[in-house]
Amino acid sequence: MDLFEKCWTYAKPKQAQALGIYPYFVPFTSQAAPQVTIGGRTVLMFGSINYLGLTEDARLKGAAIDAIQKYGTGCTGSRLLNGTLDLHEELEHRIARFMGKESALVFTTGFQTNLGIISALVGREDVVVLDRACHASIVDGSRLAFGKMVKFAHNDMEDLERILAEHAGRHGILVVVDGVFSMEGDLANLPEIVRLKQQYGARLMVDDAHGIGVMGPSGRGTAEHFGVADAVDLVVGTFSKSFASTGGFVAGNEQVIYYIKHTARAFLFSASTPPASAASALAALDIMETEPERFARLWENTTKWKTHLDRMGFNTGHSATPIVPIVVGNDFRLAVFWRKLFDAGVFANAAVAPAVEPGHALLRTSCMATHEDGHLDQGLEILQQVGRQLSFIE
Ligand SMILES: Cc1ncc(COP(=O)(O)O)c(C=O)c1O
Repeated sequence: MDLFEKCWTYAKPKQAQALGIYPYFVPFTSQAAPQVTIGGRTVLMFGSINYLGLTEDARLKGAAIDAIQKYGTGCTGSRLLNGTLDLHEELEHRIARFMGKESALVFTTGFQTNLGIISALVGREDVVVLDRACHASIVDGSRLAFGKMVKFAHNDMEDLERILAEHAGRHGILVVVDGVFSMEGDLANLPEIVRLKQQYGARLMVDDAHGIGVMGPSGRGTAEHFGVADAVDLVVGTFSKSFASTGGFVAGNEQVIYYIKHTARAFLFSASTPPASAASALAALDIMETEPERFARLWENTTKWKTHLDRMGFNTGHSATPIVPIVVGNDFRLAVFWRKLFDAGVFANAAVAPAVEPGHALLRTSCMATHEDGHLDQGLEILQQVGRQLSFIE
């Protein structure tokens, strides 16, 4: 049997392409901003995770250009051997301070951060317990680990407790959740998860890729929002969203970070974050620490956007963050919805299984601090028109 047989017969995306409703790999010819250019057309962007609108910021661009001038375009090696710059160390110190933890480690992407940490920490005798809706990188990190992986039903605390009770005392346990779930924009029940992890002697890792720079009084994330930051053992973030760069990080206890630094294969065997990305992430951190008005504006936009979508009658699920899904259910209906919105001038993200549960297809919309009222009004009007046309709303 030919190994490539599965490739020759792989047809699903082709059907959507033939119908002109394929929503993926759309090439932009402009920067991520409230309005973007696609195929020579300007469309409103409600599908970018550029929460604070920093991709366009002159200070980030300047920092990236200066870093390229000073350090060149790449590090050509892993952090372990020849790829560590003073910039990486400065970023780690600053992130640790920002997150209120002893130490931090910067990875090349957020995906690698989760792969590296979980596979390094969860040994043969250990168990990793994760929410069923966790990001793919957490699932893959758990698959890579030698220990056992057990999933609990999404945000179901009884199910989590059942699993913890079954394994406590006999295994080291790492509980992993997203702080903000990336497709539905709902929050992990961190106060209860913290209570349970303490009761059963487990460790807790929170992937707050969508929470840092967004949640909490000073943007330090979902644990800050719930007032449980000190009880979270490891917090993971990415520079690819509110930081408008690329790279990932973990912050926590100094000895634990030291262990991860010397054992996480996705960290040790991959080239380090390029200078421009490290420098722009540092510039983003400066802005997060000094311009709270950006968070305020992001939340004003989010409140307006979600309130109007709810009033129109769209199903926005359990969203409590700038990610506001419109749950559609069926993949085909979602693709048609996406295409009609695109033709009318709105770009958003189409999410189908495995990004969401099968039969739970949704359009993921998201707000930025740099959306102006006019962008929101126009976007809402288009959504209402198309939603009515497809009988999603009355
Ligand atoms: C919850 C979550 N974790 C991790 C990642 C991966 O981050 P990165 O884009 O830096 O690889 C993402 C991004 O899609 C995410 O949403």
